[in-house]
Amino acid sequence: MKVLVVGSGAREHALVRSLLADPSVAEVIAAPGNPGIAAIAACELLADATDATAVVALAARHTVDLVVVGPEAPLVAGVADALRAQGYAVYGPDAAAAHLEGSKAFAKAVMASAGVPTALAHVCTTPAEVELALDALGSPYVVKDDGLAAGKGVVVTTDRTEALAHGLACLDKPGGQLVVEEYLDGPEVSVFCICDGTEVRALAPAQDFKRVGDGDAGPNTGGMGAYSPLPWAPPKLAQEVIDTVAQPVIDEMRRRGTPFVGTLYVGLALTARGLRVVEFNCRFGDPDGQASLERLVTPLGGLLYAAATGRLAEFDDLHHHSDAVVVVVEAAAGYPGSPRTGDAISGLVEADATEGAYVLHAGTRRDEAGLLVSSGGRVLNVVARGADLAEARHTAYLALSNVSLAGGHHRTDIALAAARGEVTVKERAG
Ligand code: AMP
Ligand code: GLY
Repeated sequence: MKVLVVGSGAREHALVRSLLADPSVAEVIAAPGNPGIAAIAACELLADATDATAVVALAARHTVDLVVVGPEAPLVAGVADALRAQGYAVYGPDAAAAHLEGSKAFAKAVMASAGVPTALAHVCTTPAEVELALDALGSPYVVKDDGLAAGKGVVVTTDRTEALAHGLACLDKPGGQLVVEEYLDGPEVSVFCICDGTEVRALAPAQDFKRVGDGDAGPNTGGMGAYSPLPWAPPKLAQEVIDTVAQPVIDEMRRRGTPFVGTLYVGLALTARGLRVVEFNCRFGDPDGQASLERLVTPLGGLLYAAATGRLAEFDDLHHHSDAVVVVVEAAAGYPGSPRTGDAISGLVEADATEGAYVLHAGTRRDEAGLLVSSGGRVLNVVARGADLAEARHTAYLALSNVSLAGGHHRTDIALAAARGEVTVKERAG
């Protein structure tokens, strides 16, 4: 089959790589792709990935059998709707279903209807409501912009003044709405659920590192690294997430007349009172998705095509290998605040040649002279496999040591606590 992948980040680079490894996939076209993707697949110009007419035209020109939409923005903008209206098999939800990521207030409402465990939350539209909610739920304060904010709309702080200031900033936006919620104490997990509107299959759980600095210092980012498996997590976690979260949500979305086809990304906290949903996204995570996808053995093209065409029931549980995978993100100077772009990148050939590791491009482009330069906040990922987390970490950082990017930075502690057996889930109180 021929597959069109929409998007330009490391997640899409990983999707293209895994799709090409599936013998049932004859050709992959990416739009707009990036220089890393261009080395393994054809890339088409796409000035704006949310331009549904342009995406439909590309699908038609290449007579593709399947379209995989990677990022949230085109999904929330209705790109999948437009493709389905023209009869294409699409992996990615319609706009109405992508609302699970597009609005935190909507996600909370669906969870309440479906009986899914999550943090207590207050939706606020006025400064007075924000103050009341902060005092009702107490410190640490969790204040979230209602809409899409690329992982940067959330402030978690013990400082009430900072929490209130973020709340007021969210209200200042057009249609400003925010959610103040209960603080969830416990390690976070990402579980990517492949959904066909009715059935659900889960990838191996991964953990993401959201804060910019070692030891979880500094502000939230889109994600600085990830690993899988989670040796400290309950062995049946993925099934528990299907049973208590994903299946009830998929059933509720179908009941509402907006079936969810695509990846339901369940962000969880494992608290002393059991698992609680932190957030939903309507796509694979980045970089946590890269860790889970690298562990998947089930061929990706057939799996996503089955989900897109409502035939996931034909798939048994997904197959994963037992190696450990560690993903480390190299970010640009100034990320996540105001990332600097246009810096030269070198050493990728050497990094890629490291046994057990490879490089995914995220924010890169070629300049007029054809040289690789940075073009975004998160510039690239190194993905490494090993017999255990310690070995995968070693390989990832060895590969990354070849890369040079002026002002670039990365965390040095991705998967470190897990490799040392220092991550713990608090005992469940009954
Ligand atoms: P979100 O955009 O909802 O994923 O939030 C981004 C990050 O903020 C999460 O990955 C958590 O690290 C943190 N966070 C969000 N909600 C909570 C919560 N209720 N309790 C503790 N931390 C949270
Ligand atoms: N890494 C978190 C996300 O993709 O939202």
